Amino acid sequence: MNRLHIGHLADIEEKGARTFMVEDTEIAVFKLSDGSLHAVENRCPHKGGKLSEGMVCGTSVHCPLHDWKIDLRNGKVHEPDDGCLNTYKTEIDGASGEIYITIAG
Ligand code: FES
Repeated sequence: MNRLHIGHLADIEEKGARTFMVEDTEIAVFKLSDGSLHAVENRCPHKGGKLSEGMVCGTSVHCPLHDWKIDLRNGKVHEPDDGCLNTYKTEIDGASGEIYITIAG
């Protein structure tokens, strides 16, 4: 398990995302309107659209290519489509606002 520092809470706008690379995987960290953070692989399971460029609505993101909807809390694609993304645990240091994610492996 690797715990990585990826930035500060203030670096991500509400309903926005920040991306970064871990080895050859691009990860997108989204901030929802309730302030919670969710980290997912930045690659739509349909045809690889960059989810960080999609629109956040509630707890889901709409893929910018063909509008699949993906739940950012668990990485699951909403029906009638089907699929799942890798998700990563996020932590916020309450005092400093620094953000960490945990990568298995
Ligand atoms: S690539 Fe995301 S919906 Fe097609």
